[in-house]
Amino acid sequence: MGNRNKELKSKRRKALMGGGKARVDAQHEKNKLTARERLALLLDENSFEEWDIFVEHRSDSFGLDKQKFFGDGVVTGYGKINGRLVFVYSQDFTVLGGSLSEANAKKICKIMDQAMKVGAPIIGLNDSGGARIQEGVASLGGYADIFQRNVMASGVVPQLSLIMGPCAGGAVYSPAITDFIGMVKSTSNMFVTGPNVVKTVTHESVTAEELGGSHTHTSKSGVADFECENDLELIELIKKLFSYLPSNNKEKAPITPTKDKLNRKVLALDSVIPENPSIPYDMCEILINILDDKNFFEVQEKYAKNIIIGFGRICGESIGIVANQPKFLAGCLDIDASKKAARFIRFCDAFNIPIITFVDVPGFMPGLRQELGGIIKNGAKLLYAYAESTVPKITIITRKAYGGAYDVMSSKHLRGDVNLAWPTAEIAVMGAKGAVEVIFKSEVAEDGSKTEQLVKSYEEKFLNPFEAAKLGFLDDIIKPSETRGRIAKSLEMLKNKDLKNPWRKHGNIPL
Ligand code: HXC
Repeated sequence: MGNRNKELKSKRRKALMGGGKARVDAQHEKNKLTARERLALLLDENSFEEWDIFVEHRSDSFGLDKQKFFGDGVVTGYGKINGRLVFVYSQDFTVLGGSLSEANAKKICKIMDQAMKVGAPIIGLNDSGGARIQEGVASLGGYADIFQRNVMASGVVPQLSLIMGPCAGGAVYSPAITDFIGMVKSTSNMFVTGPNVVKTVTHESVTAEELGGSHTHTSKSGVADFECENDLELIELIKKLFSYLPSNNKEKAPITPTKDKLNRKVLALDSVIPENPSIPYDMCEILINILDDKNFFEVQEKYAKNIIIGFGRICGESIGIVANQPKFLAGCLDIDASKKAARFIRFCDAFNIPIITFVDVPGFMPGLRQELGGIIKNGAKLLYAYAESTVPKITIITRKAYGGAYDVMSSKHLRGDVNLAWPTAEIAVMGAKGAVEVIFKSEVAEDGSKTEQLVKSYEEKFLNPFEAAKLGFLDDIIKPSETRGRIAKSLEMLKNKDLKNPWRKHGNIPL
């Protein structure tokens, strides 16, 4: 027995060394933490229970039989974040470049299966050279086994991805299916094919950073949601994100107690909307002032800035926020904004997080680029996401709600539960000038001086919230300073909302 204990101790010690000192030093030199250091920062102290520390690969191709490491390049198990259970896998770049083998894929699948059985989130820390090249198709099979589980877990338990090193080839498709992706500046990248293949196939010369760095994916492609300076910053951010989420689709997000008063008035909001409707303002300021303790956790901050998405709380309850941002492109809905908001709405709906929508939208973005890019199908994604969602939906129109965009932005017609407007709201088919040019075309052509008078009369009739309120499309017109209290009361009223969509295998969202 004494010998067995010794053997166990020695094997465990070996496993904890990963790929050995030289490789760990190389990892640190690249400003990267090791797989185990990352988990130690992510999980509550002493909460980590590791599984499969003694797993080894079974391949003998290309000398692999002489390169065996306990754990085989991925650390897996479960632990707690602020007392809440999560399952984790952390790829160990110091062991064969964290490459994915058949054995190491099985370890990942095992914890994914267990997470599904107990209804706990799955968090993946990615740092890998991709498929273990020596293993060939066995490794590819491992990836597909993970993809299948990612899809089955989608909408059942939250799945979060931290990209902390290379993530290339088909390997990118596992994080792509997960709910949120965070990347570390300079040390992480994601691409389907690297710069060398790109050069050969398309003759384009690009750096890995341009092709798949954190800036590219958080501001241009929209593939990733967060960009952080280093491993530690990303881990802290993911913990914060997790605090807004429930553990699974049958639970609600935890309540975070606050001293912020339910009825706190924000007097500054009564004068936040400029007199001139063409002048922009910062919608973020409104959101921050309304939320508990002025905390707004923005998602995809640098991508499609004309729409804002993120999490906050009101009276301790986690809420998802979608808001047009008049500061960028006048808050127009374009392809990127529609996709960004639609995916976020579907996440909130899947995980019982009420959706609060702030509207100031002059319409869908016109133009050839948008039409050729498929604004019709992409805009429909946003409409579809709002229409199918069954969580509590509260809408506040601060200023413009024009045309189709009025319908789309969580209107009463798309089963908005509580639809409110500020007195500055303008709910109309279009802006007054455009409307006059269409309906009084001949009068204006005959006598241009009439335009101003006609614009004024159209503005008086339609550019206000009263017409919509008259039709019952708005439940009330409220003082901006009272918005927080009105949302809080609405959320309380909606606590037991029970709305179900008709049975179907699944809908056919315009992808
Ligand atoms: C086996 C690998 C590996 C891999 C890296 N290593 N990637 N071993 N399979 N995929 C090993 C290296 O041989 C090396 O071992 C150690 O890990 C560290 O790698 P380095 O190259 O020294 O590190 P670095 O210079 O930082 O470069 C990292 C890298 C590079 C950019 C990731 O290693 C690389 O280009 N790797 C190959 C990437 C790739 O083509 N993967 C397959 C993609 S296709 P030693 O013993 O020398 O230290 C794919 C298909 C998935 O993934 C499809 C799913 C559907």
